[in-house]
Parts: sequence; structure tokens; C-alpha cells
Amino acid sequence: MFIKTSAVQTALLTCLLSVTLFNSKAQLRPAPLLPNPQFTELSRFVDQNFIRLGQSSEFELDPLNETACGRVASFLLPQLKPGIDSAASITLLIDTSVKHPDGYILRYSREGVVITGGSETGLHYGAMTLLQLLQQNDGSILYPFTIVDEPRFAWRGMHLDVSRHFFTVAEIKRYLDLLAMYKMNVFHWHLTDDQGWRIEIKKYPLLTQVGGYRDETLIGRPSKKMKFDGKRHGGFYTQAQVREIVAYAAERHILVVPEIEMPGHSRAALAAYPQLSCTGGPFKTATSWGVFEDVFCAGKDETFDFLTDVLDEVMALFPSQFVHIGGDECPKTRWKACAACQKRMQEAGLKDEHELQSYFIKRIEKHVNQKGKIIIGWDEILEGGLAPNAAVMSWRGTEGGVAAAKAGHYVVMSPGKPCYFDHYQTKKTKKEPLAIGGYNPLDSVYAYEPIPAGLTPAQAAYILGAQGNVWTEYMPTFDQVTYMALPRMAALAEVLWTYPENKDFEDFKKRLEVHKTILDARGYNYHGKVVAKKSKK
Ligand code: ACM
Ligand code: ZN
Repeated sequence: MFIKTSAVQTALLTCLLSVTLFNSKAQLRPAPLLPNPQFTELSRFVDQNFIRLGQSSEFELDPLNETACGRVASFLLPQLKPGIDSAASITLLIDTSVKHPDGYILRYSREGVVITGGSETGLHYGAMTLLQLLQQNDGSILYPFTIVDEPRFAWRGMHLDVSRHFFTVAEIKRYLDLLAMYKMNVFHWHLTDDQGWRIEIKKYPLLTQVGGYRDETLIGRPSKKMKFDGKRHGGFYTQAQVREIVAYAAERHILVVPEIEMPGHSRAALAAYPQLSCTGGPFKTATSWGVFEDVFCAGKDETFDFLTDVLDEVMALFPSQFVHIGGDECPKTRWKACAACQKRMQEAGLKDEHELQSYFIKRIEKHVNQKGKIIIGWDEILEGGLAPNAAVMSWRGTEGGVAAAKAGHYVVMSPGKPCYFDHYQTKKTKKEPLAIGGYNPLDSVYAYEPIPAGLTPAQAAYILGAQGNVWTEYMPTFDQVTYMALPRMAALAEVLWTYPENKDFEDFKKRLEVHKTILDARGYNYHGKVVAKKSKK
């Protein structure tokens, strides 16, 4: 690679920045990108049909932003094709006059390609677009066009549950590669649940030693006559591995938001430290799915000491300002029968167990806020009174999100319909791998509008975006994770990136067909993949 810093050609830059955004629908689209950019135009007045780019291409970096542009160049270079004899260059610039800080302009020139980002992040997205374009044309051919692009929403998220089934560091990186390809920028990492605690906490080693494993796993769905596989399942990420994943994501401009579940979905933690429950246990890490009645005791100060210690280690590992504290599906049965919980309610003047849950979350919020961070929780945290600075993830429909936005709280939309990618994507389920149920087909994901009706523009501004959730009870392998996530992740990415006037489902499907060559080349399993039948001999 040659990285050369050249004087920025003022004339060229002025020309780039004079391109304005407008509806791309009527434009000839030279390349089927996912998500669709806001504006694409075939460049005229060039005397070459295409140029070739590869690892031998010369990089020219904006001298005023050399370090940031150098980072993008270093990310791009290894992904370019080796062995291409290319005289064309790749110029990387940052110019804050690009309308959106995360936007970019990508332009073909006789000498090569010029990408101008509104920031390093915008430049990175331009580089991701370049990679998709090259990968669709033998890895090195670039046709002459201009793309002017920017994201619609700030939170373009994908979630992954690693508790119900554990996935390796390499698999998490493969997942992050998908997010990066679709310009998604938040990875919500569901690290703890009843069936497994997956993050090393130095102060409480039993969390992973005991809570990181379960004796066996339910076969099929829960029923009266449950059958188990008899195989121990588990694993966890060391803090060094967590740092590695956070850094890998950051290189792709993806924020990792960790989730530590409380007060419910805590059986794995209670298997390790039963004294934090109302009854004292003993417990085993759960081996089947559902909602369990044993939860963290809200009456014991020890519970809060434990959780704040855990969160301190977690917050030190994740630069994210948001910390997800769960808050969903917490049965109140044990709290109702627990002397400590009832005493807490009496002393704090709480009228019912919903208010006790609110007390729980507010106490945790206070600690997290003191560290300069913000809690986000599932919409149950609205019950009994929302913590003052909390953001809400709306999953039981959109009502929770609407209520939170109206009250001036940030919201991430993730309603079961259509954002739960553990649901089936076809009605013909007989030949499908077993799923939890439900039906969220590709077209309904594509048609999703994250801003609910009935909000004023000021209230709508609290909707940060949306995310797709991948709960893995019925996804024992990473191949099955991507089978359920794809292509719905691409559809949601377009919902979140592309302005509605530049979206069209029929067009999306055509682009997707071309895009499948990239998924195939990279070995990703996905719904709708054509698998060659074995010939009968
Ligand atoms: C959830 O699906 N329990 C947030
Ligand atoms: Zn209790």
C-alpha cells in the first residue's frame, strides 16, 4: 500500500460538496446496494467505463485529518483484492460541510475514487459502500457514479442473545461483520439470563464458573412431558475477550451495549450466589425456557451491592453510554412472600410490588448515572414509575415507547411484530427449523415505520431508532442465527438508514438477489438460500 498525503484539490472538493440530496427513485442505479443510498447517479463526462481498485491502489489522505483517514484506509486496505494491477487511487477526505456528520459522498473520477465523509464515521460508511460495490463486481471493478448518502436514524441496532446459546468470539465477529456491511451501528449484547451468565466478573467468579453452564437443554418447546438432551452447555467471555470484541466493533463504528438482566431472568446468577434470592435457594442454571419465579431479592442491600459491583466492572469494559439493565418479565411471587422485600416496601412507602420494581431500577439508575452513564431497559421499567433518566426499549408493541417519548425519555423501538427475528419468516413452517413461533416475514420488516403515529415532532425526536432482536432458545448454532437474522437484518437496516421516499420493496428484493452473491461468497447461511440438491446416482 502507498499512503500518500496530497494537497486537497480545492476545485474537486467544491464540486463534490455542490452535490445535493434528492429523491433517487428515478435515477439509474448502477449498483444494487443494501441499504439503498439516498442519492445515486451514473457519472457522465468520464472517458472510462470502469476503473480497477485493489491492494496496490494508492491511498491519498486528507492532510488535515490524516490520523482519522489513515484509520479508515487501514480498515479498507486488507479487504481490497490483492494482485490487481491498478493505477487508480483512493482519496479519503473529511469535510464537516457534508450535511450529516455520518454522511458521505462517494465519487468516481478519472484518477480513482474520492470519498468525503462528514466525519470519520461518515467516511467509514463511504468505505463500506465502496466495498459492497467492489464485491458485486469481481472484487476490483468500480463503475462511474456518484453516491450522496446519510442515515435517517441514530440507533440502527441488532441484538443477540448469547445466554440461551453460547456463541464464540469468532462468531460474534462474523455477526458484527454483518452489522457493519449494512451500516448498523449498535450491537445489543444480551449477556445474562436464566440459562447462562456469559461475562467474566472478577469479583464474583462463580457467575461464570457455575452460572456459565447448564447441565442439559430442553429438546423442543416446553410441554408437560419435557425431554432434555443430557448435554452440558455453556461458555463465557473473559474480560480480555470482551475488550477484543468491543475494539473489533469500534473499528466498524459499532457501539456495543451490554445487557445485564435484573431483577428477573436471573436464575444463572442465583445458581452461583443463591443468597441474593428471596428464598436462599439452592438453584440450578435453567435448562428450559420461559419465565422463572426466583429473581433477585429487592429487600436485601446485598443484592444492590452485588449488582453495582457487577455494573462497575461492566461499565469499565464498555465505552457505551447506555447500559441495558433488562427489567422485563419479573414475576412478583417471591417478593410478595419475602419478609425482606415486604419490609423494604413498608419502609420506602411503596404501595405494591410494581413500585418495588421501580424502586429497584431507580436505585440501580442512580449508581449508573453517578458513573456518567444512562440506563436503558425493556418497557416493563415504565410500570410503577419510570426512573428519571432512563431510556426505554419498547418490545411489547409500541405503547411503552409512545408513553416514554411523550414523557421526554429516549426510546428504541423493538416491537415483537416485526422486530423479533426469532419468529418464523414464512407461513410454511413444516420444513423450517423449529422456532419459538410467530410470523415476521421480510415484507413486514421492510414496511416497518419506527416513528409511531400520534407523536408531535418534538416527541418523535425521542425515538432514537429501532433494532432487531435475536433470541436464541431455538438457535443452537451460529448458522441458525444467521438463517433467522438474514435477510431480515438487511430489510431493517434499510428501514433505519434510508429515507422512506428512497425505499421500495420490489426494488429491495431485486437488490437482495444480487447481494446474495456476497452472502454466499462469505459463507453466511440465510433464509431463501438455494442449496444445491445432491444428484441421485
Ligand atoms: C423480552 O423479549 N422479554 C424483552
Ligand atoms: Zn426478597
